[in-house]
Amino acid sequence: MIQRSVLFVCLGNICRSPLAEAALRAEAVAQGLALTIDSAGTSGVHAGEGADPRAIAEAKRHGIDLTTHRARAVSHDDFVHFGHIYALDHKNLRDLRAMAPGRSSAKLGLLLDTVPLRIGQAVIDPYYGDADGFARAWDDVAIAARHIVHRLMG
Ligand code: 4NP
Repeated sequence: MIQRSVLFVCLGNICRSPLAEAALRAEAVAQGLALTIDSAGTSGVHAGEGADPRAIAEAKRHGIDLTTHRARAVSHDDFVHFGHIYALDHKNLRDLRAMAPGRSSAKLGLLLDTVPLRIGQAVIDPYYGDADGFARAWDDVAIAARHIVHRLMG
């Protein structure tokens, strides 16, 4: 297992989990924490595609370039390589649990369970909504990133 490694998982790996990956990378750099960070989707239908243009625009508002992101599906090896795997919503977490191999050593959890005031909540899928949904998703992943870095440094 890669020490201090975090994988974010949503459905398509084009909206929420790429934003979570970018937010945690920025927070880890800001706090001087060495972390391996990646993201993936429970579905591979968008594999190889770039992030959703609305996610790219939201990241850009926060000074982050998301244009090099390429979507991929979760693999069995992810459950061995990553120390923590955070699902963006409850369905993603159920699907992750169902696909976890017996040799899985990763700690699986719901992303917003890392935020004391948001326990049990999902990062709402913004794919079928408007740009506001992406701004809300960013706010959610950014606060979770702060809590994850704080936990890992503590
Ligand atoms: P994501 O958003 O899981 O946050 O990347 C979605 C991306 C694609 C679809 C749904 C949600 N889709 O139905 O294709």
